[in-house]
Order: sequence, then C-alpha cells, then structure tokens
Amino acid sequence: MGFSADLSGKIALVTGATSGLGERFARVLAKNGAAVAITGRRVERLEKLKTEIEAAGGKAFIHPLDVTDVGSIRACVDNVWEQFGPIDILINNSGIGEPTLATDFTPEHYDKVMDTNARGAFFVAQAVAKRMIAAGRPGKITTVASLAAIDVVKGLSVYAMSKAAAAHMTRALALEWARFGIDVNAICPGYIVTEINEGTWETDLGKKMIAGFPRKRIGKPEDLDGLILLLSSPDNGFMTGSVIVVDDGQSLG
Ligand code: NAI
Repeated sequence: MGFSADLSGKIALVTGATSGLGERFARVLAKNGAAVAITGRRVERLEKLKTEIEAAGGKAFIHPLDVTDVGSIRACVDNVWEQFGPIDILINNSGIGEPTLATDFTPEHYDKVMDTNARGAFFVAQAVAKRMIAAGRPGKITTVASLAAIDVVKGLSVYAMSKAAAAHMTRALALEWARFGIDVNAICPGYIVTEINEGTWETDLGKKMIAGFPRKRIGKPEDLDGLILLLSSPDNGFMTGSVIVVDDGQSLG
C-alpha cells in the first residue's frame, strides 16, 4: 500500500526532473493529482517523462532549466506560471555530487558545485516565492538537501558545504516567508541509488559502506514518496523550517 495525498488542483514545479529523485517526485506528485511542471537540462528526457505521466492519467508541462543561470531560472518560473498556471508546490531538487578531495578542488570546480546546489536552490526558491507572494497565494517549498548537510563524508567537502547552505537557507526562508503562508522545508536523504552515485555500490568502497549501515542497504527513490507527499500536502499546515533526515539510520553508529 503506497502513501497518498490529495493534490488535485495543485501545480508542482520539480527541478532536476530528468533522473533519479526528481523524476520519481514528479511521478508521485502527478499520481496524487498535481499537474507537474518538469524541468531540467536534458529536454529529451523531460519529453519522455511527460509522455509517461500523461499515459498514466496525469498532467505535465516541460520547460528547460539550468539552475546555474539565474536568467534561465526566472524565465522558467515565469513561463510555467503564465502558461501552465500558478505554482503551489516547488520541489527544489537539482544537484550535483562531484566527489573530489579538498586538496584537489579548483576555484572553477568549487563554483560549479556551490552554484548548482546552494546558489541555484536559492534563486529557484526566490523566483517561485516572489510569484506566490505577489499573487497572495500560499505554497510549499521543499529543498532536497542531503545527509551531508549534517554529517561530513570524506571526498565530499564542497558538496557537504553546499548542502549545509541549502539546509540553513531553508530555515532562513521559512522565517521570512511564514507570514505569506509559504512553508519551506528540506529533506536530508541518506544514500539512495540514482545517477549521482552510479557505479559506487559495486566498488569495494561502496560495498564496505553498505556493510557499515545498520540495515546493510541503500535506499530506492520510492523510499521518499511518503515524505515528499507530506511536505507537499495542503493538509499539512504546521511544518515550516524543518530539516528532516531520512536515511534508514545510515548516519547512526
Ligand atoms: P541525479 O543525478 O539522478 O539527479 C540530479 C538532477 O539534477 C539531474 O536531473 C540533473 O540533471 C539535475 N541537475 C544538475 N545540475 C543541474 C543544473 N545546473 N540545472 C538543472 N538541473 C541540474 O541524482 P539524485 O540522487 O536524483 O539527486 C537529486 C537531489 O538529491 C540532488 O540535489 C542530490 O544532491 C540529492 N541527494 C541525493 C542523494 C542520493 O543518495 N541519491 C542523497 C542526498 C541528497
């Protein structure tokens, strides 16, 4: 039995919907009645996802988006709002991992990770919230941070820094936008199998990591279905500024 929420009549914008968690979130929101604006850089993947969502009875709209480009963010949010409808739910999901030892980071590489995970998440949230506030409409903004926002991992220093920024951003924006009825929360997933960590789990290091987790496993994108629906549901009116770890206990021990 899966989780469900009544999202009928709602419009959700999902960033980084071309793979992994974003793709799963788009399908889950659509299955629960939301019309979904699916965005990302790989438009051919968005077209395929749109076809699949519509074949399952859902409604989807595609728009290209590069979150490192503020012009692209603003154009995307404006076009979705004007052509598809007012956004009720934002899933601020795009991100890159780029494991690199701290001693090997160049300024350009550092900027790429921070621009995608921290700066990008901020300006997407800003663009959506400005439209919500101007329209006098409430909303739900959920940012996908990471367990790395809280626990550091060797080789992921800048990623961890960028995700800590996204988590702190969540609390700051929740404080500013509470009076507008905009709930701003973040999720901090543990390891979930997606393209971001493709190939890791077959390596000796990956196997060792799994062996060290309390349940000796990593997650699947569907393990986040319930939480993403809870944070997107209009029935959930008492959560904002929450940064929620969802990691199957991977950070314990
Ligand atoms: P993924 O690599 O499948 O998805 C990331 C998505 O972000 C892709 O669609 C990618 O194209 C998009 N993206 C990257 N740069 C972008 C840009 N400049 N503009 C627009 N879109 C861009 O990996 P996954 O796992 O689905 O990642 C989704 C989010 O979840 C990321 O923010 C990631 O950091 C976070 N996360 C993932 C975990 C995991 O174990 N899979 C654990 C904790 C957090």
